[in-house]
Amino acid sequence: MSALVVYESSFGNTALVARAVGDGIAAHMPVRVRSVSSLGVDEADGEDLVVIGGPTHAFGMSRPQTRRDAQVRLGDEPVESLGIREWIDRLSPDRDDHLYATFDTRVEKVRHLPGSAAHAAARALRHDGHRVVDRGVSFYVADVEGPLLPRERDRAREWGERLAHKAQELLLRA
Ligand SMILES: Cc1cc2nc3c(=O)[nH]c(=O)nc-3n(C[C@H](O)[C@H](O)[C@H](O)COP(=O)(O)O)c2cc1C
Repeated sequence: MSALVVYESSFGNTALVARAVGDGIAAHMPVRVRSVSSLGVDEADGEDLVVIGGPTHAFGMSRPQTRRDAQVRLGDEPVESLGIREWIDRLSPDRDDHLYATFDTRVEKVRHLPGSAAHAAARALRHDGHRVVDRGVSFYVADVEGPLLPRERDRAREWGERLAHKAQELLLRA
């Protein structure tokens, strides 16, 4: 059994969470943690568990325009980029037998607002016939550019560990 964590991150916070999730998963199975921009969808082939995480942008998964907004905020020249929305769109519908789970990062002070990239990603995966084994979890940053709130990395590691354990049980039962 093995796992892949695919993440998108404009300011680095989701990347930190992805690595922590990977550390948790590693307690149960080998895991690779990769940025969505460095990974073709076929690189998920052969993985049992695929975990997808990204920042919440405009109440859901990022879009080209929201990623450009983030690049401008960083003072970068806007360039075309790939997000988890596009990566999920490129997966072959209903063809793979991976178990999927999703996470996001969001701003704590507006947590009363609806919208989560993790929930949107889980919905998109289910819609395309993929098997999603977790309801999708949010990790919180203090403001748009971060930092991650204290304890979120620990919470991410613990979630990763629980997730890998659950995936193992489901796979052994199959
Ligand atoms: C264009 C844009 C839209 C955003 N919209 C939301 C939002 O609707 N809800 C929210 O909680 N955070 C929102 N945020 C804050 C992001 O969730 C935050 O920047 C992200 O969690 C940081 O992760 P990263 O460092 O991996 O990019 C937005 C940020 C940007 C740049």
